[in-house]
Amino acid sequence: MPLTAPDLSKPFATRNSLAAPAREQVAMLLNRRLADAIDLQSQCKQAHWNVKGSQFIALHHLFDDVHASVTEYVDLIAERIVQLGGVAEGTIRVAAERSELDEYPIEMWASMDHVRSLAAALGAFGSRISFAIQELDELEDAGSADLCTEVSRGVDKWLWFVEAHLQSR
Ligand SMILES: [Fe+2]
Repeated sequence: MPLTAPDLSKPFATRNSLAAPAREQVAMLLNRRLADAIDLQSQCKQAHWNVKGSQFIALHHLFDDVHASVTEYVDLIAERIVQLGGVAEGTIRVAAERSELDEYPIEMWASMDHVRSLAAALGAFGSRISFAIQELDELEDAGSADLCTEVSRGVDKWLWFVEAHLQSR
């Protein structure tokens, strides 16, 4: 008898307390934010590798610290999707297709240009995660809303660290 492939569009059975229809919607929503987070992860490394000019060593380290935190956010989001019976769609190719962040400039080296670009990416990701918190509240998924709140707080901190290089009065 031929084996039939599992239907990955349907959630896996789980004893998770969230109702099945909500789990499906949450998994879809989190997969969109997962794509953004994976994109952001690579943008941090792009900045870390290529930055040159004033404050080089501080920014080189800072961008790697941001990358390490974003890597944790990727893992948190992906594993939450799986806990809800979904499939974490976390390949680079899916992320590249689905990410809502702007393309990171490749031909760029000046330190403040990287600061501006990474601040823009962190800001864009932060807004999307904030909006996800509202959507998750509406879906009555307190666990995922709390996870996104944690991510949002972290992104706000890193945005401050990066953006402070540009702020003045
Ligand atoms: Fe490195």
